[in-house]
Amino acid sequence: MHIGTTLTQFIIEEQRHIAGATGEFTALLNDLVTAIKTISNAVNKGALIGVMGALESQNVQGETQKKLDVITNEIMIRHNEWAGHLAGMASEEMDEVYPIPNKYPLGKYLLVFDPLDGSSNVDINISVGTIFSILRAPVANRAASAEDFLQPGVKQVCAGYALYGSSTMLVLTTGHGVNGFTLDREVGEFLLTHPAMKIPEETREFAINASNRRFWEPPVQRYVEECLAGKEGPRGKDFNMRWVASMVAEVHRILTRGGIFMYPRDTKDPAKAGKLRLMYEANPMSFIVEQAGGASSTGYERILDMQPEGLHQRVPVILGSKKEVEVVVGYHAA
Ligand code: AHG
Ligand code: MN
Ligand code: MN
Repeated sequence: MHIGTTLTQFIIEEQRHIAGATGEFTALLNDLVTAIKTISNAVNKGALIGVMGALESQNVQGETQKKLDVITNEIMIRHNEWAGHLAGMASEEMDEVYPIPNKYPLGKYLLVFDPLDGSSNVDINISVGTIFSILRAPVANRAASAEDFLQPGVKQVCAGYALYGSSTMLVLTTGHGVNGFTLDREVGEFLLTHPAMKIPEETREFAINASNRRFWEPPVQRYVEECLAGKEGPRGKDFNMRWVASMVAEVHRILTRGGIFMYPRDTKDPAKAGKLRLMYEANPMSFIVEQAGGASSTGYERILDMQPEGLHQRVPVILGSKKEVEVVVGYHAA
């Protein structure tokens, strides 16, 4: 019988190589995993436990909240606030920083998350996910301010996502490559199933919401036109296209078989630089993609180098197979 490596074992063994590691990070990750297993269970039970559908409320981005947006946000908070590892949390679904309640000790990390990514898919039973990012608090054991969170993506200590698909997976990086784990529901543990994930450098598959085509900037127009022209066009090869509308599912596909994903800058709403959020979506996913050998850019600059200006800031995102991202970035520079 094959006895697999659990996520806990993997993290403890990885931390052993880090001088000065106290075990606190491992403990934080354990709580996070408990939250993710709880979310996986709620998403999986769906209508059986009455969690489908929308609420009347909107989040700070002006998006209608699904019941599960609010429930999953609550699950993340409850499992991560008590243990004393965090100085604060920030979420796509909360206007302000979530302060750790006074009855609990403060810690040295900051947790940032999108509790339910792709939530427009939840009622139609298509894959959704959770995205998270862990930063070091500038001052340990002190309640974090919004400014404390505004660190460029290169400062992330860890980033990961859970994908609630045909199986539940957790994919994460601490800056030493990317590893994927699959939840064994009977055992209740994530087991290492996808060690050292690598994105193929080249691709023939692109993902973009083409209904926004008339709003795209010329470099993206050019890139997509050239993909559509196929073998007879300047790229000299046929492309395939996918759009799940769950970033987690798109990034997971790219980690598995390559590809490029774009939610570019467009002119739909001049007040917004893009749709996706720098802190909750773009930074963690960019860290994972780069650690898997891919690239991630706004078209004009590397996402991980950006100095965030606000917790809920939006950015254009172009990520995936390295050579393909370079083609699109090259068109922006031309
Ligand atoms: P969220 O559900 O957290 O608001 O994020 C949805 C995001 C992202 O996952 C996806 O790639 C994109 O929005 C889909 O946007 P469109 O509906 O414009 O296709
Ligand atoms: Mn999202
Ligand atoms: Mn969300």
